[in-house]
Amino acid sequence: MRDPRRFAVVTNVLTLVVSMACAAATAAPLRTSASARGFFIGAAIGMTPFRGEPAYVQTVQREFNMIVAENAMKMDALRPSATDFNFTDADALMDFATANNMAVRGHVLVWHNQIPNWLRNGTFTRQQIIDIMHNHIATVVGRYRGRIAAWDVVNEAISDNNGQMRTDSFWFQKLGADYIPLAFQFAHEADPDAKLYYNDYEAEGSGAKSDAVFNLVSGLVSQGVPINGVGWQMHKVNPFRISSANTTNAQRIANLGLEISITEMDIRIAQPTDMTELQQQALGFGDAMRFCLATANCKALVTWGVTDRISWVPGTFPGFGDPLLFDGSFQPKLAYTAVQTELEAGTVQPPAVPTGLTATPGNAQVALSWAAAARATSYNVKRATVSGGPYTTVGTPTATSFTNTGLTNGTTYFFVVSAANAAGQSANSAQVSATPQATANFTLAASPGSLTVNRGASVTSTITIARTAFTDAVALTASGLPSGVTATFSPASVSGTTSMLTLAASATATTGAATVTVTGSGGGLTRTTTLALTVGTGGGGDGGVTLTSMVAASGPWFNEEQVRLTNTAPLTALSITVTVQRTTGVSHSGQYNTVGGQITQATASTASTITDTFSLAPGQTLGMGNGRIFAVQTSGTGTVHPTSGDTYTVTFTTGGQTFTRSGTF
Ligand code: XIL
Repeated sequence: MRDPRRFAVVTNVLTLVVSMACAAATAAPLRTSASARGFFIGAAIGMTPFRGEPAYVQTVQREFNMIVAENAMKMDALRPSATDFNFTDADALMDFATANNMAVRGHVLVWHNQIPNWLRNGTFTRQQIIDIMHNHIATVVGRYRGRIAAWDVVNEAISDNNGQMRTDSFWFQKLGADYIPLAFQFAHEADPDAKLYYNDYEAEGSGAKSDAVFNLVSGLVSQGVPINGVGWQMHKVNPFRISSANTTNAQRIANLGLEISITEMDIRIAQPTDMTELQQQALGFGDAMRFCLATANCKALVTWGVTDRISWVPGTFPGFGDPLLFDGSFQPKLAYTAVQTELEAGTVQPPAVPTGLTATPGNAQVALSWAAAARATSYNVKRATVSGGPYTTVGTPTATSFTNTGLTNGTTYFFVVSAANAAGQSANSAQVSATPQATANFTLAASPGSLTVNRGASVTSTITIARTAFTDAVALTASGLPSGVTATFSPASVSGTTSMLTLAASATATTGAATVTVTGSGGGLTRTTTLALTVGTGGGGDGGVTLTSMVAASGPWFNEEQVRLTNTAPLTALSITVTVQRTTGVSHSGQYNTVGGQITQATASTASTITDTFSLAPGQTLGMGNGRIFAVQTSGTGTVHPTSGDTYTVTFTTGGQTFTRSGTF
């Protein structure tokens, strides 16, 4: 069987400092801290109070995680006749244990006491006695197969006389010493999983009887007899203390590969009892508990009864009493507190297994949460791409949630969580799975996000649409514009990732600061970004540009119209458009400028107009200049050119702002 306590003992040393801090007086029932350590704290149950006293039953339910029948599984109780079994009481105790999640020690299969009269006084051959014993063990052990943690197979086979065999035992007299290995063999056949014990009293420490018990079980082990443990009854007289003899004896038994249990402990006090004796008694019980917890092969401590009011002691040892953990009113005694203190001290228990794990898939991530596990100080989040693992730890949060990021969308991931503390790690939680998926989304950003525009000018900002699994067109609009400011997007419906926003302020636009909100809508989503816009009054911010127009030459056959530009600050963009009326016989004959190669020139005609443009080449800057000429030359044989109807438009950018001026010739 697994032994969780071995682990706990090892970790005691490692967690000493932590455990000292944590060993607060939580005052839990004994079984709570015992169970947490994988240890069994038990009591012998008498049928009379079990059937008749609710307070007795409640105390047992609350305090113990192991029971043993004080008498109900002895042969006289189970065997009213050679042919009959009576399991009424034994079954009731078994059902009680099952209902209350308690382990059961089986007591006792072969003992010289409490043998039924039909057997003790009957006339049987040796083989018939063997058959009766075999039948008894097979029937009783078989009935509770898998439900009894440990059986006392043979009880008290060694006498008190210098460690001799108890030769006046019924079994010894009928079968000789062979009855012992036979009984173990029969028990093993009936329940191969039950721990099989040899049980005795006054064999816990050193001395002839302890040596005899050791030699007996040692011999059984070396013969291959299926024995697993030695029961130390521990019926003691106050004051009693554990000594090094107990430790030495436990160690030599452990060396045989056997476990021990304290199976029938009580410490009887010479009557009347006083407070000093109760304190002494508490020391004895505390000793035994501490000893057993510190001894790796010690599995259980069972007291021989529950309350001082109901004990075999006064009847068996006249003048003695008060041998147990609870007084006559089921109040815990000092002895109880001593046992409790030992059970609760010295160990940080590993945490409980986390429950309620859920996984919520997101975009390239999975969000996990779970319920807090008792005693956990942190958690291990483990992930696998195959159900059942192997798992890799992906996070060790102290909170009860964790988001695992950087995952591949479309891949199914499997998660478990274990709880951890200084004592170690719990088992894994139930597994959950989740498949992250890309979430269609976009965001907007404006660059620059802070702009100044003067009256009569315009500025631009690039609107960037960052797309995640989102392919719809995004329609852009602007709001929050000051009066007199217009916004145009190019394009206004964006299939790609950028649009140019132009904010143009009229000559009468409202000045001051404003927050312009750009809203993008598409595919059911709406996202916004904002720009800080300041509208200024202008004047001085226009690069000191002055424009004049003139007709430099005229006549019926030749016409030159000039736009003259003076600028006191560099221009980073410039476009001059001259539109000449194409009256009958008029045609374009040439254009020139006094700047040079930075300017590109173009001409285009329709039926009614001739349009010449002068553009500063991209990336070029036009430095300061005075009276630069941009001229359009036309000629023709028709009507004299009516220059008064010709127009020019100049668009230029200086200081980050774009201005447009128009005029006529
Ligand atoms: C005792 C019971 O407590 C009594 O009720 C009964 O009358 C006699 O037996 N060693 C054992 C136990 O192994 O079975 C004994 O129990 C006490 C001594």
